[in-house]
Amino acid sequence: MQRIIVTGGCGFIGSNFIRHMLTQHPGLSIVNIDALTYAGNLENLRDVESNANYEFQKGSICDREFIERVISEKPTDAVINFAAESHVDRSILDSGPFVQTNIVGTQVLLDVCRSAKVPRYLQVSTDEVYGSLGAEGFFTEETPLAPNSPYSSSKAAADLLVRGYVHTFGFPGLITRCSNNYGPYQFPEKLIPLFISNLLRGESVPVYGKGDNVRDWIHVLDHCRGIEATLLRGKVGEVYNFGGRTELQNIELTRMLIKLLGKTDESIRYVTDRPGHDLRYAIDCAKAEEELGWQPQVGFEAGLQETIDWYVANQDWVERIRSGAYRSYYEQQYGERLA
Ligand code: NAD
Ligand code: TYD
Repeated sequence: MQRIIVTGGCGFIGSNFIRHMLTQHPGLSIVNIDALTYAGNLENLRDVESNANYEFQKGSICDREFIERVISEKPTDAVINFAAESHVDRSILDSGPFVQTNIVGTQVLLDVCRSAKVPRYLQVSTDEVYGSLGAEGFFTEETPLAPNSPYSSSKAAADLLVRGYVHTFGFPGLITRCSNNYGPYQFPEKLIPLFISNLLRGESVPVYGKGDNVRDWIHVLDHCRGIEATLLRGKVGEVYNFGGRTELQNIELTRMLIKLLGKTDESIRYVTDRPGHDLRYAIDCAKAEEELGWQPQVGFEAGLQETIDWYVANQDWVERIRSGAYRSYYEQQYGERLA
């Protein structure tokens, strides 16, 4: 591959993916398309912006003309779609942007990639499309889709569009579905970065309900390696699940964070539960292991400590988000104010 387009590359996983790919594939050119919503932070890629193989294009995946222009500038070997509204709580407050970006934006990308004959399209999806598990069992790629939040419903709709394009047009689409990611550059509205930054400031942490919901945690670099393996070796039309084999109740994880940051259980603030809160996610990733030769490499304890160390060393990164100052970096670079 010579040139790939990554959408949503200024977010958490997209920025980690771009950095990973530039390091692993020195001849590869990467174009990053990002609308710079509240979750997009140009500062996440400061260290690669002078790399001759990296280019940033500000714009939305819902803007067909813009996407057509970027895709047709040079031959494109693959499009990897990370761009999304990604926070469940926000989707409960207003599902409009989720329908627009996650569904309409995906449709625009599929249409433009199809007419430009882009040879590979990878949709970055989530295990949340499978709905919720009870105490037993795992999600496999065959588990029926049963999303429970506006966020997961919009992601499932996008997956079904990809499936429909593969089936109807022979479109070269692939889908990955991953469990909860953690690591550097995660926006501090999600559990792990929110709780670390609150604890560092001496604030309490809001645990929803009783804290007995279970998530399966994976380090973001293991997810990035899974996407890379799917891009290089995945079979068109297939879905691949990725997970970290690390199931934890939220309260267990909260207590680990509290201990590692030298605080006490007095920091815990139990708050009203999220409406429709999925009880448990757990991924069976045997297919990715067998067919792609992928395996999670980062042990949870080491990964969590390394993540805490990153947030400790980068408290100014969090503070610039909390104060809104991170939005001015785009203006500094491109002379144009973000809305
Ligand atoms: P994020 O919210 O950190 O980043 C999303 C990025 O998309 C931001 O840079 C934002 O500016 C950009 N974006 C939003 N709307 C856009 C639009 N219309 N056009 C162009 N760019 C737009 O999200 P993330 O956590 O990095 O997740 C990336 C992808 O991975 C999402 O598709 C998400 O559903 C999926 N995913 C996330 C997790 C997780 O644990 N975070 C797990 C599995 C799958
Ligand atoms: P989150 O990081 O929002 O990811 P997702 O909802 O996509 O799994 O939340 C992870 C878990 O933590 C989820 O069960 C909700 C819970 N949670 C809290 O208890 N308090 C919080 O402040 C947040 C953001 C999440």
